[in-house]
Amino acid sequence: MCGIFGVLSADPAVPLMMDALGRLEYRGYDSVGLATVFEGKLSRRRAAGKLSALQKLLEREPLQGLSGIGHTRWATHGPPTIENSHPHVAGRVAVVHNGIIENHAILRAELSAAGVTFESATDTEVVAHLLNRELLVGATPHEAMALVMPRLIGAFAFVVLIAGEEDLLLAARKASPLAIGIGDGVAYVGSDAVALAPLTRRIIYLDDGDWAELLRSRISVFDCHGVAVSRPEYLSTVSSGMMGKGNFRHFMEKEIYDQPEAIAHTLHAVIDPGTWIAALPAPLDNVNAVSKITILAAGTSFYAALTARYWFESIGGVACEVDLSSEFRERKAVLPDEGVVIAVSQSGESLDTLLALRHGKSFYQKTLALVNVPESSIARESDAILLTRAGPEFGVASTKAFTAQLTALLGLAIAFGWARGNIKDCDALRLITALEGVPSRIARALKDVSKYQKIVHDLLRVRDVFYLGRGLSYPIALEGALKLKEITYIHAEGYAAGEMKHGPIALIDEHALVILVAPSDGLFGKIASNMSEVRARGGRVILLTDAKGAEELGTAADHLVVLPDIQPEVSPILYAIPVQLLAYLTAVEKGTDVDQPRNLAKSVTVE
Ligand code: F6R
Repeated sequence: MCGIFGVLSADPAVPLMMDALGRLEYRGYDSVGLATVFEGKLSRRRAAGKLSALQKLLEREPLQGLSGIGHTRWATHGPPTIENSHPHVAGRVAVVHNGIIENHAILRAELSAAGVTFESATDTEVVAHLLNRELLVGATPHEAMALVMPRLIGAFAFVVLIAGEEDLLLAARKASPLAIGIGDGVAYVGSDAVALAPLTRRIIYLDDGDWAELLRSRISVFDCHGVAVSRPEYLSTVSSGMMGKGNFRHFMEKEIYDQPEAIAHTLHAVIDPGTWIAALPAPLDNVNAVSKITILAAGTSFYAALTARYWFESIGGVACEVDLSSEFRERKAVLPDEGVVIAVSQSGESLDTLLALRHGKSFYQKTLALVNVPESSIARESDAILLTRAGPEFGVASTKAFTAQLTALLGLAIAFGWARGNIKDCDALRLITALEGVPSRIARALKDVSKYQKIVHDLLRVRDVFYLGRGLSYPIALEGALKLKEITYIHAEGYAAGEMKHGPIALIDEHALVILVAPSDGLFGKIASNMSEVRARGGRVILLTDAKGAEELGTAADHLVVLPDIQPEVSPILYAIPVQLLAYLTAVEKGTDVDQPRNLAKSVTVE
């Protein structure tokens, strides 16, 4: 992971780099550093911890220069110490890097045998030494890059700054994201368009294996054979106005409250609000030809995919399989002719999902990307794109992107099922009407959160938390447990409610808290039995349900959250809200770092 940034500016580089690193902190925040070239001399400052630690260091030891590179780290090789912080320097060369150089051990051994001593435990340092070695024997920076690039194996992006070169940055990418920004006599490079958004909207994306030479006046791109190539310039859709926290305490809180709007916008990307006709993107539009849909995703996006399987099967009338991106390549999946792969990813950059998508393509599957970032790698490598319109998501724990994914996937299933004749006009209309009603119900569910306070106190006291759900509520149970773990560090597990008796029930006693995701749908009776089983063993119960469910079982629960009535098929989108709020409010009460929880990063670009 990690965020990388480079600039050739007309103004002092450090303030620009610090701002950009702030925008990139969502990619990693365990250590940070930057380097500049000033009067030909390369200097760097590095700190363990977050950007604020580097800020303090720069106040004591400022850096001058109009050209620089910066890095915010999520450790892969070596702990987050100052020695392992980027930029890594060898002789005249400084490097910031995201991703993994897989053959670093071989390269390190070769360099060590030639007398090189290493300062850090990172894989990155080999790149700096390889480039410096070429410069030492007289290569130009261009020649050094052309010689070193073919030697690097892995998924990586890096930017190079060289002493004595105040109008030059070198940048390269292979599988990891990298965006080059074009300004007026200024050049930028960063991990994504978000880092560059306030600086420029003119973006060039490098292809896999490309590297680039940036001067203030010219950007030259070379392919993996070192041949000069031309890559198109895009106008980024990310704007700096989308990036603030407003009056909210955290990005996560803002993003929870953004959901009615995010869902409405996303819905209208699939369903025309004027005609109520749902449009199917390629390759799903040839409905009768599609033999099977395989949905690939990670983390929270995987839970959106799991929910969608219920929808594609029952509403779409099509065989649907869902797999974790990281596992998909590890098995011999049978992928039929005319199969469609849908890659679901907020960032569009999760390396596991990108590699799974490529694996699907190697089996001649047609591909659709469901992403929140139009310029992302997964979007660019898919046959077609369907955008969630959630707006940029900065909180590391995904919220609005998840409900936007659910909305888009249900919209797709309805359109698909209707076009294929699996559901009648009246069913399609009923479901679309139900979807249209979700934003207002979420707004109601968000109105008064004071009722959660007592539950939060219970959550902070228990040993284990179990989220249980059946059918469409099962993935929401999984999502609830993930949210709680991520930002409160409280142990939580999500289970299909019917599975509890097959093992987890052994853990139920007075120190366990069970959260039942239970709209009063056709499965409510079975959930009621699960609740009795928990109560009989001394477990405490929080019931998330509607007015009817509350009337039937409310008195038997220790805590009750009553949500607006909703059609069963769309209930997962609404029931995502209380599980997000429970995690968020508990984290705030506990005092954890909500937007930047320990060990995590927003965009996971390593395997
Ligand atoms: C959890 C969370 C992660 C992501 C996962 C996939 O709150 O945010 O589990 O869902 O890393 O990320 P994307 O959707 O960007 O591929």
